[in-house]
Amino acid sequence: MRQVPLVVGHPLLGSLKELRHDVLAAYLRARSTVGDVVRFQAGPPGARTEMYGVFSADGVQQVLASQSANFRKDNPTYTEIRESVGNGLLTSQDDEYIFQRRMVQPLFTRRRVHEYAGAVHAEIIRSVSGWQTQPDGVVDASAVMTEFALRAVSRILFGADIEAAVDVVRRQFPVIGESVLRRGVSPVRLPRTWPTPANRRTQAAQRELFGICDRIIAQRAGADEADDMISLLVRARDEDGSGLSADAVRDQVLIFLLAGYETTATTLGYALHLLAGDAEVRARARAEVDDVLAGRSPGAADVEALPYLNQVLKETMRVYPAVAIMGRRAVAEAEVDGFRIPAGADVYLAPWVTHRHPAYWARPDDFDPEHFTPEAEAGRPRYAWFPFGGGPRACIGQHFSMQEAVIVLAAVLQRFDVEAHDPPGRRVPVDLGMALRPAGPLLVRVRPRTKEAVA
Ligand code: HEM
Repeated sequence: MRQVPLVVGHPLLGSLKELRHDVLAAYLRARSTVGDVVRFQAGPPGARTEMYGVFSADGVQQVLASQSANFRKDNPTYTEIRESVGNGLLTSQDDEYIFQRRMVQPLFTRRRVHEYAGAVHAEIIRSVSGWQTQPDGVVDASAVMTEFALRAVSRILFGADIEAAVDVVRRQFPVIGESVLRRGVSPVRLPRTWPTPANRRTQAAQRELFGICDRIIAQRAGADEADDMISLLVRARDEDGSGLSADAVRDQVLIFLLAGYETTATTLGYALHLLAGDAEVRARARAEVDDVLAGRSPGAADVEALPYLNQVLKETMRVYPAVAIMGRRAVAEAEVDGFRIPAGADVYLAPWVTHRHPAYWARPDDFDPEHFTPEAEAGRPRYAWFPFGGGPRACIGQHFSMQEAVIVLAAVLQRFDVEAHDPPGRRVPVDLGMALRPAGPLLVRVRPRTKEAVA
């Protein structure tokens, strides 16, 4: 087994500054200058932490799938998420995880996901209804898709309308995200109970979010026969017949909000932004939508019949993977892509980097849906593209999200011409919280199409 090469950093602080300043750029640089499996050191001598980056498709496959039992969610970032958001399906492990997964799985069967299509369509129509009368036609795709994603996940999964909570969630999740990220990479973590300004901000955010979840749960109280997530969780019993505590139900709701809304909002916001910026791709996508739907509203059965729209989405998730980095901790020493990873190592995988690896992509830096023709897909290793993770802990919302996104894009393209507002080629900088998101608005220009496009 080979030793993992070190990314040489500052003599005193190692790579701390680079990782804190722009972790995505630091990883990209490390991949191109050092290699597919790298080691970073961060922090002053005596308080120095070490972390590993694994960027090759084979390495990713080993960590997430074939050696998944050895790579657990015991790393600093997941520990932080668990402590600030709670122990739900995204963060739990072992028996607790198995119990929780069994509990919520019925919500994600193929049949159930198909049933959600109507609600997704109704919500997107509601979200874009204001576009008809937008005076200059310029809208922030990111803001619209954030509201859409929140309403969709809460209505579909929780059976609740959280109109009043949209603002709190939008304001407070980033506060938690910033804290998770800062503490996750910091070599020195002060106890959460210390009244530092940062701790106080995080606690206030947590209190407000808990309040929102408690209200969502209260809306469902008494809905005995319902089969939304909250009703399932409230009725759940484990083997000894005991139910979940109110805190455990709230943790699950918060984790699903966290995992489900920002990821979707980022993906859809960027999809519209990228479509707006590429007239050729847009024309082809729109022609497919008009051809297949012939004015009908898109439904679950249409998703597979829109292959080009699927390509556009996959390419959007390649360029802007909403989960740009994911971490694990090695239990025992392991061999990953031929390198020795020691027991206890913090290992990071980065779709952001692997999705730009020149070994797998013809035009790594460009938006080009041709990367996802069936032939191109067949010629690539499975884990060159992994926006939904993989192995036993892959995203439970994957099929739901793909269906949702295709329906949303089809419905928007049917009704509107979506064109660039920004100068050609402008890339909106990204911001990394718990999910990747645009650092500013994603402005696009929308013009209602003639009535014939929609029945
Ligand atoms: C484009 C949208 C989405 C993306 C890119 C995405 C991405 C991911 C990724 C990468 C993971 C694995 C994390 C890891 O291995 O460390 C994950 C897990 C998860 N996602 Fe998603 N997700 C999306 C949408 C959703 C939605 C809509 C929901 C809920 C309805 C959801 C719920 C979850 C949950 C609960 C997990 C943990 C699953 C488990 O460990 O069993 N996600 N997601």
